[in-house]
Parts: sequence; C-alpha cells; structure tokens
Amino acid sequence: MAIARNNKAILLTLFSIIFFIFVYVNLSVERKSRTPTVVKPKSKFADLIECYKVGNPVPHDAFKLPDVLESDRKPRPGKTIFFHETSCPKSGLLELGPRQVCSIESAAKNNPHFDIFVLFTSPRYISPDFLSTEIWRLKLTYKNIFLRNNDMWEYTKNSSGVKFLESEKLFSSHFLPVHMSDFLRLLSIWKYGGIYMDTDIIVKRTFENLPLNYGGIEEHGVDLNNGLLSLAPNGNGHEIGDLFIKDFAKNFRPDGWPDNGPLLITRVLRKVCNATDLKEIPVERCRGFKVYPRPMFWAVSYTIAGHFFDTDKFESLKDQTRNSYSIHVFNHMTKDIKHKIGTKSLYGVTTQEHCPVTYANAGQYL
Ligand SMILES: *[C@@H]1O[C@H](CO)[C@@H](O)[C@H](O)[C@H]1NC(C)=O
Ligand SMILES: *[C@@H]1O[C@H](CO)[C@@H](O)[C@H](O)[C@H]1NC(C)=O
Repeated sequence: MAIARNNKAILLTLFSIIFFIFVYVNLSVERKSRTPTVVKPKSKFADLIECYKVGNPVPHDAFKLPDVLESDRKPRPGKTIFFHETSCPKSGLLELGPRQVCSIESAAKNNPHFDIFVLFTSPRYISPDFLSTEIWRLKLTYKNIFLRNNDMWEYTKNSSGVKFLESEKLFSSHFLPVHMSDFLRLLSIWKYGGIYMDTDIIVKRTFENLPLNYGGIEEHGVDLNNGLLSLAPNGNGHEIGDLFIKDFAKNFRPDGWPDNGPLLITRVLRKVCNATDLKEIPVERCRGFKVYPRPMFWAVSYTIAGHFFDTDKFESLKDQTRNSYSIHVFNHMTKDIKHKIGTKSLYGVTTQEHCPVTYANAGQYL
C-alpha cells in the first residue's frame, strides 16, 4: 500500500511537472508568435488609409500633381470656389467625368473673379494622356481653374479636426468618399472662406455679388443641403466653420449617409440661430449666415431629378428654376441616365449655355 501511494505521489509530481512544462512552452510559443502583431494591431482599414496616403502605382512617365499647401498659388481667402474629388481610383491618375468637368466649367465661367480649386484627396498623377482630356482643355480656356492634390492629414493640422482624423474613425465610414467630402468641404471653407460646390451642380448666375456666409434650404427631412455652402474667411463665418468641424469630430456616424453632411450643418445652424425652423429666418438671427430659400440653388427635389433629362419636363422645370443661381442634378439619382447631346431637356439647354467648352467636346453624350 505504502509503495503504491508513493508511486501515486511520484506519478502526480511527474505529471504536474510535465503539465507545467507543456503550458509554459505553449504560452511562450504563443507569446513569441504573437509578438509582432501585439505591438501595433493593424487597422481594419489599413488598405484604405494606404490608398489615400500613398496612392496607387502609376506609369513611369507620370508626374505628381502639386499639393495645395505646397504650391505657390494658394486659394485666395474668400475668393475661391472649392471642389473636392475624394475617390481613390486604381489608376492613380487625375480623372474627371464629363459631368464633373461641366460643373467646374460653369463655376469658372460664371465667376471669373474667383479662383476655382479642384482638390484631389488621394495622390494623383498626370500622364502624357492628360493633354487630351476635357479638364486640360478647360484649363487652357479658363485661367482661374487650379488642380491640386490635397493631403488631408496636412490640410487638417491646426484645425479642430486633427485628432478626429488621426483617430482613423473616418475610415470606418460605410460611405467613405461621401463622408470624406463632407469633412473636407468644411475644412476648406473654414481655412480659406469662399464657397464649396458639389460636382453635380451647374452654376447659372454669378455668386460674386452674394455676400459670403450662406447655404440653402432643401425639403424632405433635412433643412439644409450641404451641396453648396459658403463661409467668410474671418469673423462669424470662420467661427461657424469651426463649430461645423467640432461637431463632425464629436458626432461622426459611420453608417448614416446624410448624418455628417446635411444633418450636421442643419443641427449646428439650429444652435447658431437658436431656432428649430430655419426657413425664412432673418440673417441677423444667425450671426450673419444667410439661409436661402430652396429655389436659390436646388429648386427641384432630388426625388424627381430625372426630369432634368426629360424633354417633356423642359418647360415646367425651366419655369421652376427661372430665378435659381444653380441647378442640382443629384448625381446619385441620375448618373445612369444617358444624355444625348442636342436633347432639349433642361440639363441639355443649361449645359450648352453654361459649360460650352465641355458641351462642344462631349461627343455623343454628356
Ligand atoms: C494655426 O492657427 C493659428 C490661429 O488661427 C494661426 O495663427 C497660425 O499661424 C496657424 N498655424 C499654421 C501652421 O497654419
Ligand atoms: C432662444 O430662443 C428662446 C425662445 O425661442 C429664448 O427663450 C432663449 O432666450 C433664446 N436663447 C438665446 C441664447 O438667445
């Protein structure tokens, strides 16, 4: 019995030793194999961030577009219209669709005393083919168009958005190019003042006589649309811009398409103006920010944006937009509609007049 008990004890001890060695070896092996990733976990969005930081491979004969902060010709405070192109295309080249180019032309043509800065968020290059593109032809015609890269990390430094951008929360967005554009437009008009415009808006009348600091009402659930937004480079305009950026950083929602755009500027302005209904609010109540009625920039609802391309709707839309400064064709609703050059729709007639170079060179469709 005593021997058997002794044997049992020895066996137990041996077993324990083996067990501890086993656990120790396993743990240390696991520790070793995990060491490199434990130091800095790779972001889920690392590839996306890389795309915007480094860009995609380009042909050897392509050269990099200068960055807006590094080139000599900077946006002139309060005298600039900004466009932000926030996709990260595989080609890495400067590319714009004809409808985007038309929008840029309409801004340049109708606002000759303003500079038009088209900013590309992902690093873009220009290849020799660039000399046959629409946007190049436009640059030859309109001396007030400037194309620039826009390193958003540099651009955001010294703003209330810097910590937010470094947190990489933006890259958790379900609508990344949209939310990036929502963010960067606020940065631009906070930094330099002036006007931001979406590339699906066509300018019909000059903005040069409108005092800066304005936006426009849009029905259907949201009060203001952020497709066109203006701030002054100093004073109240600059301060409202800072409020926009702070709200973006604080309340960013990755899964809500309008949440960081139209809904954001609406909720900030409700606070600024101390009013829930921003329609017909006097400019003095909003620290000098003018809320224009709907027909000013987008007389026609996005739900029927297809009518812009419909010859049967020409007369009624022409009437509705008679006094408008711009028309907004809501690209996400209309991008698949093919528009044949020569069609007498409101889109056709407006583009022929307000983006004549693009129209003349469009070929069969615009
Ligand atoms: C940062 O902003 C402050 C105040 O607006 C300004 O005085 C300063 O020059 C800015 N610095 C940079 C690097 O832009
Ligand atoms: C905001 O408006 C309400 C009435 O609508 C008023 O009682 C309140 O004093 C206002 N607040 C400020 C800060 O002006």
